[in-house]
Amino acid sequence: MRVALVGLGEIGLAAHLPALLRRPDVDVVQLVDPDPGRREIAAGQGIPARAELDPHAVDGVVLATPPWVTPELAVRSARAGLFVLAEKPIATSVEAARIYDQLDDEQRRRIQVGLTYRHDPAVRQLRTWIAAGTLGTPVLVRAHIYDEAHRPEDHEHTERITATLEHGTPVVHEGAHLFDWLSHLLGGQPQRVQDAWSSTTRPELPAPNLIGARLTYPNGHQALVEFGWFTTALPRCELTFLGDRGLATLDGFTFDLRLSTADGDRELRFPGDRTTRCFDLQVQRFVELYDSTRKAGEPSLDDGIAALRTAQLVAGRAT
Ligand SMILES: NC(=O)c1ccc[n+]([C@@H]2O[C@H](COP(=O)([O-])OP(=O)(O)OC[C@H]3O[C@@H](n4cnc5c(N)ncnc54)[C@H](O)[C@@H]3O)[C@@H](O)[C@H]2O)c1
Repeated sequence: MRVALVGLGEIGLAAHLPALLRRPDVDVVQLVDPDPGRREIAAGQGIPARAELDPHAVDGVVLATPPWVTPELAVRSARAGLFVLAEKPIATSVEAARIYDQLDDEQRRRIQVGLTYRHDPAVRQLRTWIAAGTLGTPVLVRAHIYDEAHRPEDHEHTERITATLEHGTPVVHEGAHLFDWLSHLLGGQPQRVQDAWSSTTRPELPAPNLIGARLTYPNGHQALVEFGWFTTALPRCELTFLGDRGLATLDGFTFDLRLSTADGDRELRFPGDRTTRCFDLQVQRFVELYDSTRKAGEPSLDDGIAALRTAQLVAGRAT
């Protein structure tokens, strides 16, 4: 599969490119970014770098671009007949995601959304425990998603996070992942956002940097979710799933799992680090979409839009 990597920023060069290069059946033939500085950083790879994608020379594209740029690139690439792995969130709002309505079913089918951590074996294990009633039903989820500590001396990071906040609160950016996991784990989309809150910890920030909500899911499951960015120190990033019979704890960074039931405690650690594990599985699924082993992108464009819709509901309710 001939692939172009579009967007040579942080996640493009640190995670997508190494995962693509690890696959013997993928040939990375173009590196694309309009920023000459980013192309220069990528130059050592020996792969032609361009300011614009040449869609005729590739079978698929990986779009590691900001979410306010991704929708138009994804639509253009899908309409050119390419397979598309598009980073999350697939747009910054449900309105902006309407551009995907231009695609027909075949073009939509060829889009996989970069909800990378859905692929982790820890998520599969949690889903099995919840479905089998290992924890009891219903389950109370407490999700504390905290990342991107404020380091004023790191100008590049400060600029990137400020620019991202200009396009929405952390729930839009991190919620893409979390709401995808929760609907996958709890048997469907949330039925209601019960309430929500937000807080802006420094007046110069363009959007609230702390935000949270209480949601109800099918089967009586409930979720208390919190997202936080850009404070000097951050609480632990962790998810807990508590039912009458047990407690499962997922470390938000490593995805190490702990299960506590009447039978005792169990720790589960999966091989390798989470990023490598999940980006490798993600590329594998992308290749399987290309070679027709898979009939549609997983996660699909509809999954990406559903997660965005929940994030937007929370953001609207909170602010
Ligand atoms: N799946 C994950 O785990 C994960 C992790 C981090 C970031 N992300 C997502 O990946 C995306 C990129 O994040 P990042 O942190 O790498 O951002 P970044 O700002 O470091 O990189 C984005 C790159 O895209 C380039 N770009 C902008 N417009 C472009 C265009 N029209 N064509 C080609 N390239 C263009 C920029 O020049 C920049 O180099 C975001 O949507 C983010 O939410 C996903």
